[in-house]
Amino acid sequence: IKREKVKDLLVTTTFGKEVIVMGWVKTFRNNQFIALNDGSCMANLQVVVDFEQTPDEILKKITTGAALKITGKLVESLGKGQTVEVKASSVEILGESDAEKFPLQPKKHSLEFLREIAHLRFRTNTFNAVFKIRHHLAFAVHQFFHERGFVYLHTPIITASDAEGAGEMFRVTTLDFDKTPRTETGEVNFKEDFFGRSANLTVSGQLEGELGAMALGEIYTFGPTFRAENSNTTRHLAEFWMIEPEVAFADIEDNMNLAEDLLKYVIKHALENCKDELEFLKNRLLEEEKNKPQAERSELNLLEKLHFCLDNNFERLTYTEAIEILKRSKPNQKKQFNYIIDEWGADLQSEHERYLVEKHFKKPVILTNYPADIKSFYMRQNDEEVNGQKTVAAMDILFPGIGEIVGGSQREERLDKLTQRMQDMGIPQDELYWYLDTRRFGSAPHAGFGLGFERLVLFVTGMTNIRDVIPFPRFPKNAEF
Ligand code: 4AD
Ligand code: MG
Repeated sequence: IKREKVKDLLVTTTFGKEVIVMGWVKTFRNNQFIALNDGSCMANLQVVVDFEQTPDEILKKITTGAALKITGKLVESLGKGQTVEVKASSVEILGESDAEKFPLQPKKHSLEFLREIAHLRFRTNTFNAVFKIRHHLAFAVHQFFHERGFVYLHTPIITASDAEGAGEMFRVTTLDFDKTPRTETGEVNFKEDFFGRSANLTVSGQLEGELGAMALGEIYTFGPTFRAENSNTTRHLAEFWMIEPEVAFADIEDNMNLAEDLLKYVIKHALENCKDELEFLKNRLLEEEKNKPQAERSELNLLEKLHFCLDNNFERLTYTEAIEILKRSKPNQKKQFNYIIDEWGADLQSEHERYLVEKHFKKPVILTNYPADIKSFYMRQNDEEVNGQKTVAAMDILFPGIGEIVGGSQREERLDKLTQRMQDMGIPQDELYWYLDTRRFGSAPHAGFGLGFERLVLFVTGMTNIRDVIPFPRFPKNAEF
């Protein structure tokens, strides 16, 4: 007979059947009842051990964290909260776990503590739920684009270009800088390096994605991206996953529609396919909120929040309109947040973004037409100016509790405008000749965006720290395993 999964056993009614299950011990009560978890679901299977028939040698090794192979009979359970259990005829210890040393006790641990034992936190229900939802969201992303005929384009992880022009790249090198011959001016000579030039980890697959879109029509990337920026926040990682669609013959309007459709599609998919996990996380959050004063508790629970997002159109307005709202806003005295922003042209801080979504509109917001000065070189320049200053056809999507979840734009397809802007911003044109070739040979309007995958997982799971929604978080001073 082959191994059965706990998830399947818990819904069967074929009592009397002989089964094999394998899993890890959550608890062992009264020398008799094992709560066994095999990762297939958050629920445990109750295994009843006959302690008179089982050698003491075995009994004392049934400890929290130990891995077991159980052979036994599936029977109806009389216990509360479960319908089936397994009456064990044999218990085999696959892997012992010293109860004194195993850091996970059968009690609720704080997320901070679990972050310190990130290699073991997968064994908890919270992280079981989070990473299952993460999987389903990734699957739904691929399904969404596949259904619409987009091609999944694998853009490089090692690249020479800085797609965002922000200089936040990690260098990739095989050189030993101490031993490398220097140029006359004392600089490292990257001609000696593996690629014969300097190379970096990608900050975005967009520029290569545009090459694909300008031939295949509609592409998307979904891969890891890297930023050596200050990622010591609850919203930033040094290594994060990004979904970047790019569509030929599309404008900013099409881009906004695609992003809103994508977000709603994947959230709906999670609601339909991760019911147990979302229910568990909803209740976990409700428990946590009990410790907060009434005024700070959220009006909607996790599931209501997700449904609300599906049922409402995202609010669309321009950056300039948002600044007007922020100018009129009253600062929140109690929390000493200064919502007021009196300068057109300034980049929005996360407190401004959160004011717009959480306090003013109370729903997701799409902001468009940002000042050119605070946005990347590739964004399409608008004809009309505001306050005598240039704007670009950018769009950012802001989500409650998250802030910016999507950043994108219509692209500058006019060669002369693009090269002028690159010159103004000091972006090297010779290095990006391949990018400019799309504008030289059959240029066409096109648009795309980047969705930060971890920020999406944060929103859907209701978790509050981005380090808790990626299995192996990378941030300053932390790159274990
Ligand atoms: O706004 P960003 O920097 O845009 C781009 O990279 C464009 N090239 C995308 C495109 O148009 N194809 O990043 C896009 C999104 C952000 O909105 C945010 O959700 C996420 O990526 N993001 C991060 N997520 C986690 N940690 C970080 N350090 C992030 N930086 C950006
Ligand atoms: Mg951005």
